[in-house]
Amino acid sequence: MKLTFEQYDIHQTPSESAAVFVYQDRAMFSRQIRSTQRKIRCAIPAAATGDFKGKEGESTSIYVQRGTRVRRIILVGLGEQRKISAEGFRRAAAVAARRARSLHTSSLSLIVPPSTKKFGETVGAIAEGAYLALYKFDKYLSKEKETPPEIQTISICSTAAARLREGKRIVGRTEILCQAVVLARDLGNAPGNEIYPETLAEAARESSVRSGYSASVLDEQEIKNLGMGGVIGVSQGSAHPPRFIILEYGNSRKQPVVLIGKGVTFDSGGISIKPSAGMAEMKMDMSGAAAVIGTFEAVSRLKLPVRIIGLIPAVENMPSGTSTRPGDILRHYNGKTSEVADTDAEGRLILADALAYAEQYKPAAVIDLATLTGAVVVALGHHATGMMGNDPALLQRLREAGDATYERLWELPLFDEYEKLVKSDVADVKNVGGRWAGAITGAMFLKKFVGSYGWAHLDIAGTAMLEEQTDYAAKGASGVGVRLLTEFLRRWRREVPRRFR
Ligand code: BES
Ligand code: MN
Ligand code: ZN
Repeated sequence: MKLTFEQYDIHQTPSESAAVFVYQDRAMFSRQIRSTQRKIRCAIPAAATGDFKGKEGESTSIYVQRGTRVRRIILVGLGEQRKISAEGFRRAAAVAARRARSLHTSSLSLIVPPSTKKFGETVGAIAEGAYLALYKFDKYLSKEKETPPEIQTISICSTAAARLREGKRIVGRTEILCQAVVLARDLGNAPGNEIYPETLAEAARESSVRSGYSASVLDEQEIKNLGMGGVIGVSQGSAHPPRFIILEYGNSRKQPVVLIGKGVTFDSGGISIKPSAGMAEMKMDMSGAAAVIGTFEAVSRLKLPVRIIGLIPAVENMPSGTSTRPGDILRHYNGKTSEVADTDAEGRLILADALAYAEQYKPAAVIDLATLTGAVVVALGHHATGMMGNDPALLQRLREAGDATYERLWELPLFDEYEKLVKSDVADVKNVGGRWAGAITGAMFLKKFVGSYGWAHLDIAGTAMLEEQTDYAAKGASGVGVRLLTEFLRRWRREVPRRFR
């Protein structure tokens, strides 16, 4: 799918359909409808009869007989003008794109409202909403002979001549970003028999070659030699050997931001096996890894002036005669030991090694993304990622990027009192914390392996795996984290913290 920015108005667009955004406020509504009617030289019956009011989420299509090149006009409601936001435009564009798809048109123009104040933000939001809403994971569906054409081009259109270059730049950037989100979604949705540690590493390698960053992959023997007992322990029940994927981008004189992604390509629970209902979703338990790979793809293609390191411990968690047993004790990269009270709390075991490994890079910040706990889904549902960490300034920057992209973050506390929940009698830490505060005890475990750097832990269990479609994400893997981290890194300019000088 191609995304472009054009200097057109509705009547000039060569697309098969054009979307016009309409505010519901009375004066605005009639002004916009009148101006649209003038341009297409045709009355808009739905507006005249009051069927279409410009409310949020509302849309209607109109067929134009002559006087203009475009044959179908889709009116899309924006709601009240004073309440409009970037997210409002993403959603409205998504409504338009889905409606255009259901009309079987192969090209769509989205007309930027002339009254728009935040031009760049709005253009980006419209492009993003439309592009992401059209995502489908259909590569395993046999194609029917008569399938109608998919939308091939989306043009964001504005008549503002002075802003043509800016519009093109923003749409170009948004296209790269959306392609990276789609990569993360595809990796997440891919079944466990396609994506396992070796193929996840291969996918990272291919992305690195395509996009201009570097990827190296440690195999099982190298992981063992390094003393990453968590990665070995979790993977040892599987027929698929583990991999430890290291990604690098940017000027090596800069202090890096390290991004860590949980890469459990399938989580059966291991010997502490999960109930079979819902287990299939655990093919998406590498969504943290997918977000990191997607972010590397976006950041390197956008050539952002940052240095980033990506660390992905990739394993499959399976029950077998060679699996780690409940009660086993593992020794991690930094020498600390953990008691495996439950083999289904595997994410933290592999992240422990990665967090300890990150220290050697003297990171300016470390951010891990993991589908870590069911408990975070209980707490926040699918609308916010649980955020925890040790550096309020870092968390604040992440929160701001989350608000801007609408991949929102909500902080949970890491009070010292929670520490005793992960205390073990036989090892330095225990991998489960009992019944309460499950998202927090997951993070308290990780905290034991955090070095002398600012750290944020993002528990994306709810936001990465969607049970139902949302405005611009289909059911399944959402690709969450890619837009968030790319925006965070776009804003990233940090002084070298004093402790590293
Ligand atoms: N991958 C799961 C977490 C998960 C659950 C993600 C539901 C998405 C939806 C993780 O490895 C896990 O199994 N966590 C356990 C931890 C428990 C044993 C302490 C959980 O949340 O039940
Ligand atoms: Mn698990
Ligand atoms: Zn898991």
